[in-house]
Amino acid sequence: MIRCIKGFKDILPEDLPSWRVIKKTAHKLAQCYGYSEVMIPLLEYTDLFTRSIGGGTDIVEKEMYTFQDKDGSLITLRPEGTAGVVRSFLEHRLFNIPKNKKLYYIGPMFRHERPQAGRLRQFHQFGVEAFDITDSLIDVEVIALLWNFFSFLEIPQLTLEINTLGTQGDRKRYIQQLKDFLVPHLQHLCENCRRRYQTNPLRILDCKVPTCRLILQHSPHLCDDLSPLSREHFQGVLEGLTTLNIPFTHNHYLVRGLDYYTRTTFEVTTPALGAQSTLGAGGRYDGLIESLGGQPTPAIGFAVGLERVALLLPPSLIPPSAPLIFMAAFGNQGRQAGIKIIDELRKKGLIVETDYQASTLRGHLKKADRLSALITIILGDNEVQKGSLILRDMQTKEQKEILISQVSDILMSRIQKLSLPTEIY
Ligand code: HAM
Repeated sequence: MIRCIKGFKDILPEDLPSWRVIKKTAHKLAQCYGYSEVMIPLLEYTDLFTRSIGGGTDIVEKEMYTFQDKDGSLITLRPEGTAGVVRSFLEHRLFNIPKNKKLYYIGPMFRHERPQAGRLRQFHQFGVEAFDITDSLIDVEVIALLWNFFSFLEIPQLTLEINTLGTQGDRKRYIQQLKDFLVPHLQHLCENCRRRYQTNPLRILDCKVPTCRLILQHSPHLCDDLSPLSREHFQGVLEGLTTLNIPFTHNHYLVRGLDYYTRTTFEVTTPALGAQSTLGAGGRYDGLIESLGGQPTPAIGFAVGLERVALLLPPSLIPPSAPLIFMAAFGNQGRQAGIKIIDELRKKGLIVETDYQASTLRGHLKKADRLSALITIILGDNEVQKGSLILRDMQTKEQKEILISQVSDILMSRIQKLSLPTEIY
């Protein structure tokens, strides 16, 4: 038997009610905050990711699904959404239309990582990107949207960590200070960090190896030597978060694994997830659009890993499903009238199922029971000739003959009387 590829996962019918709740919340919240949805391709030219995420990052170095297209060009399954949204923003000149400056997306991403609980090779992200706003209150808005998304979904024990990476100039100064500080400790750093010292020294800050952490306890902090503008911006973000009562911790070691970040970076975590504790993360990337050929344009966004949210969604948030009506139709006239009634009821928004192959009433009722139908419609040639049908209450087993023309009104009012949901979500 051919199985699913390692790190890839089927999301089965029983999992989908929680996914629908999560996606509906994402759509609703993003639109309340003024974001428009965009759908971008799963495949992009590899260069887009190398130039935006950065050639020295884990994602680009080790995790991308890259292959040669039939024309020889190198293409990659998107490992994240920001680069593609920026490409689309520039390609379609979305900056000319005000409502297209705040965009959101939901969809699969691909990273060749070691699979474990909450970490997959195909996973789904809900992300937002806000372009062309420098004011620190947009950082607050983006973080509030992320925080409220998790809060609406009642995800427990949330922690928001925030940091600033300053501007390119701030970082350049800081990297030199950090390297100077690390020189006497080099031989005690882990092998990875010794390599990072040459390639990407900032990443040493979020190394999890205890000896490296110990050394870093006394390292200089980037925020101690920020330019006045960067400092003011970061203060503005913290002040806005305080106004909105969003609790945060300033984590000086939060640097994130993508090269495009500048200034504000943030992460929301929960210990409820175990090792893969990051639910969502993001930050500013004020230099990316220019580096991809656009005008200098500030930008900020986040992405949430939806599998991780699905693992933690409380079942109480999944609404009860609308009831099912079962059609038990017999005989030639009964079956023809049956498919017509089914079609009309479905078009009115009711969930209707039948069994085209059942030939006895017993067979039909057994199927109706298995599907937990609320009501079964019994319809044979006799009833058709009288213009009637029988409604059977599947719990009380009570039966009542009514006119075919009344069926949808009567079913609707029964469902409403029982306070059952009529909306399919
Ligand atoms: P990221 O931190 O690489 O950021 O990913 C965001 C979130 O995606 C993570 O916090 C995690 O929840 C989820 N995630 C990442 N890798 C996996 C995986 N292998 N399996 C399951 N979930 C995963 C970005 O992707 C940036 N594009 C975020 C952003 C948007 N920054 C600015 N705008």
